[in-house]
Amino acid sequence: MSDLAASGELMDRIYRHQRHVYDATRKFYLLGRDRLIRRLDPPAGGRVLEIGCGTARNLIVAARAYPNAQFFGIDISSEMLGTARRLVAREGLAADIRLARADATAFDPALLFGVPGFSRIFLSYTLSMMPGWQAVLDRALGWVVPGGELHVVDFGGQERLPVWFRVGLRQWLHLFHVTPRDALEAELTMLGLRAGALTVFERPFRGYAQYAICRRLAA
Ligand SMILES: C[S@@+](CC[C@H](N)C(=O)[O-])C[C@H]1O[C@@H](n2cnc3c(N)ncnc32)[C@H](O)[C@@H]1O
Repeated sequence: MSDLAASGELMDRIYRHQRHVYDATRKFYLLGRDRLIRRLDPPAGGRVLEIGCGTARNLIVAARAYPNAQFFGIDISSEMLGTARRLVAREGLAADIRLARADATAFDPALLFGVPGFSRIFLSYTLSMMPGWQAVLDRALGWVVPGGELHVVDFGGQERLPVWFRVGLRQWLHLFHVTPRDALEAELTMLGLRAGALTVFERPFRGYAQYAICRRLAA
């Protein structure tokens, strides 16, 4: 079985049933997603890509907030994409949000969508589910146009929360194949410097989450 098929099958297994309650339950613990959407602020006419878009919850909120931008989403799970397509159509946003099945570690937006790059790319609570997360960041930065930004929000180190909470949360996340990326700041800063980008980093909600913006210098 190829890596794409294996990863896709695992995600389909995890989300086959969960996708029906995903948006209702995740709003309580995928913290920082709306902060990221508020800070995206794409230029008029700009292209925005979410990698690992799941049910398209973020894309729908963002498309309403920035009606002058064009939105794109990829996900490896056909189950999640099925829900995403239904919700996008229900919201009347099918012309504004284009979706495709692809693996974050090996996608090409020119082949998928016929576009050369994006003003904004974001990853929300997906890197913690991707084994090759460093390669995903490297690849994503390569598709951000000069002057554009890569935004990442995910589980943080919970360093300012009680130890019992941190330990319990990590054990619980492990059941869902989720591993907080404690090296995110160091990795993204290094990849950013190589790609001509500057990274700013925050650890909101007492470190429950981590949030990064990596801005490529204008050409
Ligand atoms: C926890 S969900 C997050 C969904 C959405 N970003 C959000 O904030 O609600 C993680 C998503 O990442 C997707 N995913 C995991 N590995 C992937 C990969 N290698 N390529 C593309 N998507 C992937 C899963 O299928 C799932 O939809």
